[in-house]
Amino acid sequence: MALWSGRFEQGVSEFTQEFGASLPVDKAMYKQDIAGSRAHARMLAAQGVISQEDADAIVKGLTDIEKRIDNDDFTFDINDEDIHMSIEKVLTEAIGDAGARLHTGRSRNDQVVTDTRLYAKELARELMHANLDLRDALLAAADKTFGIILPGYTHMQHAQPVLLAHHFLAYYWMFTRDFKRLHAAYDAADMNPLGSAALAGTTYPLDRFATTEDLGFAGTIPNSLDAVSDRDFLLDLDYACSVSMIHLSRLCEEVILWSTSEFGFITLSDSYSTGSSIMPQKKNPDFAELIRGKSGRVVGDLMALLMTMKSLPLAYNKDLQEDKEGVIDAVKTLYDCMVCMKGMIETMQVNQDAMWAQAKKGYLAATDVADYLAKKGMPFRQAHEVVGHLVLLCDKRGCDLDDLSLDDFRQESELFEADITEALDLESIVAARTTFGGTGHEAVKAQMNQAREAFDADKALGF
Ligand code: ARG
Repeated sequence: MALWSGRFEQGVSEFTQEFGASLPVDKAMYKQDIAGSRAHARMLAAQGVISQEDADAIVKGLTDIEKRIDNDDFTFDINDEDIHMSIEKVLTEAIGDAGARLHTGRSRNDQVVTDTRLYAKELARELMHANLDLRDALLAAADKTFGIILPGYTHMQHAQPVLLAHHFLAYYWMFTRDFKRLHAAYDAADMNPLGSAALAGTTYPLDRFATTEDLGFAGTIPNSLDAVSDRDFLLDLDYACSVSMIHLSRLCEEVILWSTSEFGFITLSDSYSTGSSIMPQKKNPDFAELIRGKSGRVVGDLMALLMTMKSLPLAYNKDLQEDKEGVIDAVKTLYDCMVCMKGMIETMQVNQDAMWAQAKKGYLAATDVADYLAKKGMPFRQAHEVVGHLVLLCDKRGCDLDDLSLDDFRQESELFEADITEALDLESIVAARTTFGGTGHEAVKAQMNQAREAFDADKALGF
Protein backbone atom coordinates (compact mmCIF):
# COMPACT_ATOMS: atom_id res chain seq x y z
CA MET A 1 0.00 0.00 0.00
CA ALA A 2 1.27 3.45 -0.87
CA LEU A 3 1.84 6.02 1.87
CA TRP A 4 -1.05 8.05 0.45
CA SER A 5 -3.54 5.20 0.21
CA GLY A 6 -6.00 6.34 2.93
CA ARG A 7 -8.65 7.76 0.58
CA PHE A 8 -8.44 4.93 -1.94
CA GLU A 9 -10.44 1.72 -2.08
CA GLN A 10 -8.37 0.18 -4.82
CA GLY A 11 -4.66 0.14 -5.54
CA VAL A 12 -3.16 1.04 -8.89
CA SER A 13 -2.54 -1.77 -11.36
CA GLU A 14 0.88 -3.31 -11.58
CA PHE A 15 1.35 -1.55 -14.89
CA THR A 16 0.36 1.93 -13.72
CA GLN A 17 2.40 1.51 -10.55
CA GLU A 18 5.47 0.89 -12.65
CA PHE A 19 4.49 3.53 -15.18
CA GLY A 20 4.14 6.18 -12.49
CA ALA A 21 7.22 5.26 -10.50
CA SER A 22 10.37 7.38 -10.53
CA LEU A 23 12.40 5.24 -8.13
CA PRO A 24 14.68 3.78 -10.84
CA VAL A 25 15.79 7.33 -11.64
CA ASP A 26 15.55 9.25 -8.37
CA LYS A 27 17.24 6.65 -6.18
CA ALA A 28 20.42 8.34 -7.44
CA MET A 29 19.46 11.18 -5.05
CA TYR A 30 19.27 9.09 -1.88
CA LYS A 31 21.99 11.07 -0.14
CA GLN A 32 20.26 14.35 -0.88
CA ASP A 33 16.90 12.96 0.21
CA ILE A 34 18.37 11.78 3.49
CA ALA A 35 20.19 15.08 4.06
CA GLY A 36 16.97 17.01 3.43
CA SER A 37 15.01 14.79 5.84
CA ARG A 38 17.63 15.08 8.57
CA ALA A 39 17.59 18.88 8.30
CA HIS A 40 13.78 18.93 8.32
CA ALA A 41 13.63 16.70 11.43
CA ARG A 42 16.22 18.78 13.31
CA MET A 43 14.33 21.94 12.47
CA LEU A 44 10.97 20.42 13.52
CA ALA A 45 12.45 19.56 16.91
CA ALA A 46 14.07 22.98 17.34
CA GLN A 47 10.67 24.56 16.63
CA GLY A 48 8.93 22.25 19.10
CA VAL A 49 6.84 20.57 16.38
CA ILE A 50 8.23 17.12 17.22
CA SER A 51 10.15 16.00 20.30
CA GLN A 52 13.93 15.96 20.42
CA GLU A 53 13.82 12.17 21.03
CA ASP A 54 11.85 11.68 17.83
CA ALA A 55 14.24 13.89 15.89
CA ASP A 56 17.23 11.99 17.28
CA ALA A 57 15.65 8.67 16.33
CA ILE A 58 14.90 9.98 12.83
CA VAL A 59 18.43 11.31 12.31
CA LYS A 60 19.97 8.08 13.54
CA GLY A 61 17.58 5.93 11.52
CA LEU A 62 18.29 7.92 8.36
CA THR A 63 22.03 7.70 8.89
CA ASP A 64 21.74 3.93 9.24
CA ILE A 65 19.79 3.73 5.99
CA GLU A 66 22.34 5.92 4.25
CA LYS A 67 25.16 3.64 5.36
CA ARG A 68 23.29 0.59 4.16
CA ILE A 69 22.70 2.12 0.73
CA ASP A 70 26.34 3.26 0.61
CA ASN A 71 27.45 -0.30 1.30
CA ASP A 72 25.04 -1.87 -1.18
CA ASP A 73 23.30 -3.50 1.72
CA PHE A 74 19.83 -2.11 0.93
CA THR A 75 17.25 -3.54 -1.43
CA PHE A 76 14.92 -0.99 -2.94
CA ASP A 77 11.33 -2.20 -3.09
CA ILE A 78 10.34 -1.87 -6.74
CA ASN A 79 6.76 -1.27 -5.58
CA ASP A 80 7.78 2.06 -4.04
CA GLU A 81 6.85 5.07 -6.12
CA ASP A 82 9.95 7.13 -5.50
CA ILE A 83 13.02 7.59 -3.32
CA HIS A 84 11.08 9.73 -0.83
CA MET A 85 8.47 7.04 -0.15
CA SER A 86 11.07 4.34 -0.17
CA ILE A 87 13.26 5.84 2.53
CA GLU A 88 10.37 7.07 4.67
CA LYS A 89 8.81 3.59 4.59
CA VAL A 90 11.98 1.80 5.63
CA LEU A 91 12.65 4.43 8.30
CA THR A 92 9.17 4.00 9.79
CA GLU A 93 9.54 0.22 9.73
CA ALA A 94 12.79 0.66 11.67
CA ILE A 95 11.87 3.31 14.25
CA GLY A 96 8.06 3.30 14.35
CA ASP A 97 5.98 6.42 15.09
CA ALA A 98 8.91 8.82 15.09
CA GLY A 99 9.46 7.92 11.43
CA ALA A 100 5.80 8.55 10.70
CA ARG A 101 6.18 12.08 12.14
CA LEU A 102 8.98 13.05 9.74
CA HIS A 103 6.66 14.24 7.00
CA THR A 104 4.96 16.81 9.29
CA GLY A 105 4.78 20.19 7.54
CA ARG A 106 6.37 18.80 4.40
CA SER A 107 5.16 17.56 1.04
CA ARG A 108 6.95 15.51 -1.55
CA ASN A 109 6.58 18.59 -3.72
CA ASP A 110 9.06 20.64 -1.69
CA GLN A 111 11.00 17.51 -0.77
CA VAL A 112 11.68 16.43 -4.35
CA VAL A 113 12.83 19.83 -5.48
CA THR A 114 15.04 20.20 -2.42
CA ASP A 115 16.71 16.90 -3.26
CA THR A 116 17.00 17.83 -6.91
CA ARG A 117 18.60 21.19 -6.13
CA LEU A 118 21.15 19.58 -3.82
CA TYR A 119 21.82 16.95 -6.47
CA ALA A 120 22.15 19.53 -9.26
CA LYS A 121 24.73 21.38 -7.17
CA GLU A 122 26.71 18.16 -6.81
CA LEU A 123 26.49 17.40 -10.53
CA ALA A 124 27.58 20.92 -11.48
CA ARG A 125 30.50 20.59 -9.10
CA GLU A 126 31.65 17.32 -10.70
CA LEU A 127 31.39 18.85 -14.15
CA MET A 128 33.46 21.85 -13.05
CA HIS A 129 36.21 19.48 -11.92
CA ALA A 130 36.23 17.64 -15.26
CA ASN A 131 36.14 20.99 -17.06
CA LEU A 132 39.27 22.13 -15.22
CA ASP A 133 41.06 18.87 -16.05
CA LEU A 134 40.24 19.26 -19.73
CA ARG A 135 41.41 22.87 -19.76
CA ASP A 136 44.62 21.82 -18.04
CA ALA A 137 45.24 19.32 -20.85
CA LEU A 138 44.65 22.00 -23.49
CA LEU A 139 47.05 24.39 -21.75
CA ALA A 140 49.66 21.64 -21.58
CA ALA A 141 49.16 20.87 -25.29
CA ALA A 142 49.58 24.55 -26.18
CA ASP A 143 52.73 24.65 -24.10
CA LYS A 144 54.17 21.46 -25.55
CA THR A 145 53.52 22.39 -29.19
CA PHE A 146 54.47 26.04 -28.88
CA GLY A 147 56.01 27.36 -32.11
CA ILE A 148 54.36 24.83 -34.45
CA ILE A 149 52.65 26.55 -37.37
CA LEU A 150 49.68 25.31 -39.34
CA PRO A 151 47.37 26.93 -41.85
CA GLY A 152 44.44 28.78 -40.31
CA TYR A 153 41.25 28.40 -42.31
CA THR A 154 38.21 30.41 -43.22
CA HIS A 155 35.52 28.68 -45.30
CA MET A 156 37.78 25.63 -44.91
CA GLN A 157 40.20 27.31 -47.33
CA HIS A 158 43.78 28.16 -46.42
CA ALA A 159 43.73 31.66 -44.97
CA GLN A 160 46.69 32.75 -42.83
CA PRO A 161 49.28 30.84 -40.83
CA VAL A 162 48.61 30.47 -37.11
CA LEU A 163 50.30 28.86 -34.15
CA LEU A 164 48.90 25.48 -33.14
CA ALA A 165 49.05 26.76 -29.55
CA HIS A 166 46.70 29.56 -30.56
CA HIS A 167 44.31 27.00 -32.02
CA PHE A 168 44.36 24.93 -28.80
CA LEU A 169 43.81 28.06 -26.75
CA ALA A 170 40.74 28.98 -28.80
CA TYR A 171 39.15 25.81 -27.42
CA TYR A 172 40.55 26.52 -24.00
CA TRP A 173 38.55 29.78 -23.88
CA MET A 174 35.36 28.04 -25.00
CA PHE A 175 35.68 25.62 -22.10
CA THR A 176 36.50 28.51 -19.78
CA ARG A 177 33.17 30.09 -20.67
CA ASP A 178 31.52 26.70 -20.09
CA PHE A 179 32.91 26.74 -16.56
CA LYS A 180 31.14 30.06 -15.98
CA ARG A 181 27.89 28.62 -17.31
CA LEU A 182 28.23 25.60 -14.99
CA HIS A 183 28.94 27.96 -12.14
CA ALA A 184 25.80 29.95 -13.00
CA ALA A 185 23.77 26.72 -13.05
CA TYR A 186 25.20 25.86 -9.64
CA ASP A 187 24.15 29.26 -8.30
CA ALA A 188 20.68 28.89 -9.79
CA ALA A 189 20.26 25.60 -7.91
CA ASP A 190 21.58 27.04 -4.68
CA MET A 191 18.26 28.23 -3.18
CA ASN A 192 16.19 26.42 -0.58
CA PRO A 193 12.58 25.46 -1.41
CA LEU A 194 12.07 23.29 1.71
CA GLY A 195 9.21 24.43 3.95
CA SER A 196 7.03 25.42 1.00
CA ALA A 197 5.11 22.18 1.61
CA ALA A 198 2.68 21.17 -1.14
CA LEU A 199 2.29 24.66 -2.61
CA ALA A 200 1.11 27.18 -0.02
CA GLY A 201 3.43 26.92 2.95
CA THR A 202 2.20 25.37 6.17
CA THR A 203 0.53 26.10 9.49
CA TYR A 204 3.41 24.63 11.50
CA PRO A 205 5.92 27.16 12.78
CA LEU A 206 8.67 26.02 10.42
CA ASP A 207 11.97 27.85 10.37
CA ARG A 208 12.88 27.80 6.69
CA PHE A 209 16.06 29.75 7.29
CA ALA A 210 17.31 27.03 9.65
CA THR A 211 17.06 24.37 6.93
CA THR A 212 18.67 26.77 4.47
CA GLU A 213 21.66 26.99 6.75
CA ASP A 214 21.69 23.32 7.68
CA LEU A 215 21.65 22.23 4.02
CA GLY A 216 24.19 24.83 2.95
CA PHE A 217 21.94 26.70 0.54
CA ALA A 218 22.89 30.29 -0.31
CA GLY A 219 19.35 31.58 0.16
CA THR A 220 15.69 30.75 0.74
CA ILE A 221 13.12 30.84 -2.08
CA PRO A 222 10.64 33.59 -1.19
CA ASN A 223 7.49 32.17 -2.86
CA SER A 224 6.13 28.72 -2.06
CA LEU A 225 4.32 28.33 -5.41
CA ASP A 226 7.46 29.21 -7.34
CA ALA A 227 9.57 27.04 -5.04
CA VAL A 228 7.74 23.80 -5.86
CA SER A 229 7.29 24.53 -9.58
CA ASP A 230 10.59 26.04 -10.63
CA ARG A 231 12.96 23.87 -12.65
CA ASP A 232 14.91 26.72 -14.27
CA PHE A 233 18.05 25.54 -12.49
CA LEU A 234 17.85 22.25 -14.39
CA LEU A 235 17.32 24.06 -17.67
CA ASP A 236 20.41 26.12 -16.84
CA LEU A 237 22.40 22.97 -16.17
CA ASP A 238 21.11 21.31 -19.37
CA TYR A 239 21.99 24.45 -21.30
CA ALA A 240 25.49 24.61 -19.85
CA CYS A 241 25.96 20.93 -20.78
CA SER A 242 24.62 21.51 -24.28
CA VAL A 243 26.93 24.42 -25.06
CA SER A 244 29.91 22.50 -23.73
CA MET A 245 28.96 19.48 -25.87
CA ILE A 246 28.74 21.78 -28.91
CA HIS A 247 32.28 22.94 -28.17
CA LEU A 248 33.46 19.36 -27.82
CA SER A 249 31.77 18.41 -31.08
CA ARG A 250 33.55 21.24 -32.91
CA LEU A 251 36.87 20.09 -31.51
CA CYS A 252 36.06 16.49 -32.46
CA GLU A 253 35.23 17.52 -35.99
CA GLU A 254 38.74 18.96 -36.30
CA VAL A 255 40.33 15.94 -34.65
CA ILE A 256 38.54 13.69 -37.16
CA LEU A 257 39.53 15.88 -40.10
CA TRP A 258 43.09 16.31 -38.93
CA SER A 259 43.59 12.57 -38.58
CA THR A 260 42.53 11.82 -42.19
CA SER A 261 45.27 10.89 -44.63
CA GLU A 262 44.36 14.04 -46.57
CA PHE A 263 45.36 16.21 -43.60
CA GLY A 264 47.60 13.97 -41.52
CA PHE A 265 48.06 16.79 -38.99
CA ILE A 266 47.67 14.47 -36.02
CA THR A 267 47.86 10.78 -35.26
CA LEU A 268 45.52 9.58 -32.54
CA SER A 269 46.93 7.17 -30.04
CA ASP A 270 45.86 3.55 -30.49
CA SER A 271 44.00 3.78 -27.21
CA TYR A 272 41.69 6.44 -28.70
CA SER A 273 41.10 4.66 -32.02
CA THR A 274 39.42 1.49 -33.18
CA GLY A 275 39.83 -0.88 -36.10
CA SER A 276 37.45 -2.26 -38.67
CA SER A 277 36.02 -5.76 -38.59
CA ILE A 278 36.64 -6.18 -42.32
CA MET A 279 39.33 -3.70 -43.42
CA PRO A 280 42.55 -4.68 -41.67
CA GLN A 281 44.28 -1.37 -42.39
CA LYS A 282 41.69 0.85 -40.73
CA LYS A 283 42.32 3.06 -37.72
CA ASN A 284 39.19 5.03 -37.02
CA PRO A 285 38.68 8.06 -34.75
CA ASP A 286 35.61 6.39 -33.20
CA PHE A 287 35.73 8.19 -29.89
CA ALA A 288 35.90 11.64 -31.44
CA GLU A 289 32.97 10.64 -33.64
CA LEU A 290 31.08 9.32 -30.63
CA ILE A 291 31.51 12.58 -28.72
CA ARG A 292 30.38 14.50 -31.80
CA GLY A 293 27.34 12.23 -31.99
CA LYS A 294 26.52 12.47 -28.30
CA SER A 295 26.27 16.25 -28.57
CA GLY A 296 22.95 15.75 -30.34
CA ARG A 297 21.64 13.72 -27.49
CA VAL A 298 22.54 16.31 -24.83
CA VAL A 299 20.90 19.10 -26.81
CA GLY A 300 17.91 16.75 -27.04
CA ASP A 301 17.84 16.51 -23.24
CA LEU A 302 17.63 20.31 -23.05
CA MET A 303 14.85 20.43 -25.65
CA ALA A 304 12.90 17.72 -23.84
CA LEU A 305 12.90 19.61 -20.55
CA LEU A 306 12.04 22.90 -22.24
CA MET A 307 9.02 21.21 -23.77
CA THR A 308 8.03 19.60 -20.49
CA MET A 309 8.07 22.99 -18.79
CA LYS A 310 6.26 24.82 -21.55
CA SER A 311 2.69 25.84 -20.55
CA LEU A 312 2.89 24.03 -17.22
CA PRO A 313 0.48 25.72 -14.80
CA LEU A 314 1.33 26.37 -11.15
CA ALA A 315 2.07 24.62 -8.93
CA TYR A 316 3.37 21.02 -8.82
CA ASN A 317 2.27 18.77 -11.67
CA LYS A 318 3.41 15.20 -12.15
CA ASP A 319 4.95 16.28 -15.48
CA LEU A 320 7.78 17.60 -13.33
CA GLN A 321 8.80 14.04 -12.51
CA GLU A 322 10.15 13.92 -16.07
CA ASP A 323 12.78 16.52 -15.14
CA LYS A 324 15.56 14.36 -13.75
CA GLU A 325 16.31 11.61 -16.27
CA GLY A 326 17.43 13.92 -19.06
CA VAL A 327 19.55 16.06 -16.78
CA ILE A 328 21.30 13.03 -15.32
CA ASP A 329 21.90 11.78 -18.86
CA ALA A 330 23.21 15.16 -20.05
CA VAL A 331 25.56 15.49 -17.09
CA LYS A 332 26.92 11.95 -17.34
CA THR A 333 27.38 12.30 -21.08
CA LEU A 334 29.25 15.59 -20.82
CA TYR A 335 31.35 14.31 -17.95
CA ASP A 336 32.44 11.19 -19.84
CA CYS A 337 33.07 13.16 -23.02
CA MET A 338 35.31 15.63 -21.19
CA VAL A 339 37.31 12.79 -19.64
CA CYS A 340 37.63 11.12 -23.04
CA MET A 341 38.67 14.33 -24.80
CA LYS A 342 41.28 15.08 -22.16
CA GLY A 343 42.90 11.67 -22.74
CA MET A 344 42.68 12.05 -26.50
CA ILE A 345 44.50 15.38 -26.41
CA GLU A 346 47.15 14.16 -24.02
CA THR A 347 48.00 11.13 -26.12
CA MET A 348 47.71 12.35 -29.69
CA GLN A 349 50.80 12.91 -31.79
CA VAL A 350 51.16 16.21 -33.63
CA ASN A 351 52.72 15.96 -37.10
CA GLN A 352 54.58 19.23 -37.38
CA ASP A 353 55.91 18.55 -40.91
CA ALA A 354 52.46 17.86 -42.33
CA MET A 355 51.17 21.10 -40.82
CA TRP A 356 54.13 23.03 -42.19
CA ALA A 357 53.76 21.48 -45.66
CA GLN A 358 50.13 22.60 -45.82
CA ALA A 359 50.98 26.04 -44.46
CA LYS A 360 53.31 26.45 -47.44
CA LYS A 361 50.38 25.95 -49.82
CA GLY A 362 47.53 28.28 -50.69
CA TYR A 363 49.31 31.66 -50.65
CA LEU A 364 49.08 32.14 -46.89
CA ALA A 365 51.42 35.13 -47.23
CA ALA A 366 49.09 37.07 -49.54
CA THR A 367 47.63 39.34 -46.85
CA ASP A 368 51.09 40.19 -45.59
CA VAL A 369 52.32 41.04 -49.07
CA ALA A 370 49.37 43.42 -49.43
CA ASP A 371 50.16 44.86 -45.99
CA TYR A 372 53.77 45.34 -47.16
CA LEU A 373 52.57 47.61 -49.95
CA ALA A 374 50.04 49.38 -47.74
CA LYS A 375 52.76 50.13 -45.20
CA LYS A 376 54.74 51.72 -48.04
CA GLY A 377 51.86 54.08 -48.74
CA MET A 378 49.70 52.24 -51.27
CA PRO A 379 46.00 52.33 -50.30
CA PHE A 380 45.09 48.84 -49.01
CA ARG A 381 42.35 48.25 -51.61
CA GLN A 382 44.88 48.87 -54.37
CA ALA A 383 47.48 46.63 -52.66
CA HIS A 384 44.85 43.87 -52.44
CA GLU A 385 44.35 44.12 -56.21
CA VAL A 386 48.11 44.00 -56.91
CA VAL A 387 48.58 40.87 -54.81
CA GLY A 388 45.53 39.35 -56.48
CA HIS A 389 47.39 39.66 -59.78
CA LEU A 390 50.48 38.03 -58.30
CA VAL A 391 48.41 35.12 -57.00
CA LEU A 392 46.86 34.71 -60.44
CA LEU A 393 50.37 34.64 -61.93
CA CYS A 394 51.39 31.91 -59.44
CA ASP A 395 48.25 29.98 -60.26
CA LYS A 396 49.12 30.02 -63.95
CA ARG A 397 52.73 29.03 -63.33
CA GLY A 398 51.81 26.47 -60.71
CA CYS A 399 54.13 27.98 -58.12
CA ASP A 400 53.88 29.81 -54.80
CA LEU A 401 54.45 33.49 -54.00
CA ASP A 402 57.93 32.83 -52.66
CA ASP A 403 58.91 31.21 -55.98
CA LEU A 404 58.44 34.55 -57.78
CA SER A 405 61.50 36.70 -58.53
CA LEU A 406 61.87 40.28 -57.36
CA ASP A 407 61.35 41.23 -61.00
CA ASP A 408 58.00 39.47 -61.05
CA PHE A 409 56.99 41.49 -58.00
CA ARG A 410 58.24 44.76 -59.44
CA GLN A 411 56.26 44.16 -62.64
CA GLU A 412 53.18 44.69 -60.51
CA SER A 413 54.54 47.48 -58.30
CA GLU A 414 57.72 49.49 -58.03
CA LEU A 415 57.26 49.57 -54.27
CA PHE A 416 58.52 45.98 -53.94
CA GLU A 417 62.14 45.73 -52.80
CA ALA A 418 64.48 42.94 -51.69
CA ASP A 419 62.99 42.92 -48.17
CA ILE A 420 59.77 41.43 -49.61
CA THR A 421 61.21 38.01 -48.71
CA GLU A 422 60.46 38.78 -45.09
CA ALA A 423 56.80 39.34 -45.88
CA LEU A 424 56.81 35.88 -47.45
CA ASP A 425 58.32 34.06 -44.50
CA LEU A 426 55.70 32.15 -42.52
CA GLU A 427 57.56 32.44 -39.22
CA SER A 428 57.80 36.22 -39.57
CA ILE A 429 54.20 36.44 -40.73
CA VAL A 430 53.03 34.73 -37.58
CA ALA A 431 55.43 36.61 -35.31
CA ALA A 432 54.26 39.95 -36.71
CA ARG A 433 50.72 39.46 -35.41
CA THR A 434 51.46 41.19 -32.17
CA THR A 435 47.99 42.60 -31.45
CA PHE A 436 46.35 41.52 -28.21
CA GLY A 437 44.66 38.19 -28.91
CA GLY A 438 46.58 37.66 -32.15
CA THR A 439 48.59 34.60 -33.16
CA GLY A 440 52.07 36.16 -32.85
CA HIS A 441 54.46 34.24 -30.61
CA GLU A 442 54.65 37.03 -28.04
CA ALA A 443 50.89 37.63 -28.07
CA VAL A 444 50.23 33.91 -27.60
CA LYS A 445 52.69 33.76 -24.71
CA ALA A 446 50.81 36.61 -23.04
CA GLN A 447 47.55 34.82 -23.81
CA MET A 448 48.86 31.65 -22.20
CA ASN A 449 49.64 33.57 -19.03
CA GLN A 450 46.16 35.02 -19.03
CA ALA A 451 44.71 31.56 -19.63
CA ARG A 452 46.71 30.14 -16.74
CA GLU A 453 45.49 32.96 -14.49
CA ALA A 454 41.87 32.26 -15.47
CA PHE A 455 42.48 28.58 -14.72
CA ASP A 456 43.98 29.33 -11.30
CA ALA A 457 41.12 31.69 -10.46
CA ASP A 458 38.49 29.09 -11.36
CA LYS A 459 40.35 26.42 -9.45
CA ALA A 460 40.66 28.71 -6.42
CA LEU A 461 36.87 28.92 -6.22
CA GLY A 462 37.22 25.55 -4.55
CA PHE A 463 34.34 23.60 -6.04
N1 ARG B 1 8.35 11.39 -7.67
C1 ARG B 1 7.86 12.72 -7.69
C2 ARG B 1 8.69 13.60 -8.63
O1 ARG B 1 9.76 13.21 -8.98
C3 ARG B 1 7.89 13.32 -6.33
C4 ARG B 1 6.84 14.33 -6.08
C5 ARG B 1 5.49 13.73 -6.15
N2 ARG B 1 4.47 14.61 -5.69
C6 ARG B 1 3.20 14.37 -5.93
N3 ARG B 1 2.35 15.24 -5.47
N4 ARG B 1 2.79 13.34 -6.61
O2 ARG B 1 8.28 14.67 -9.04
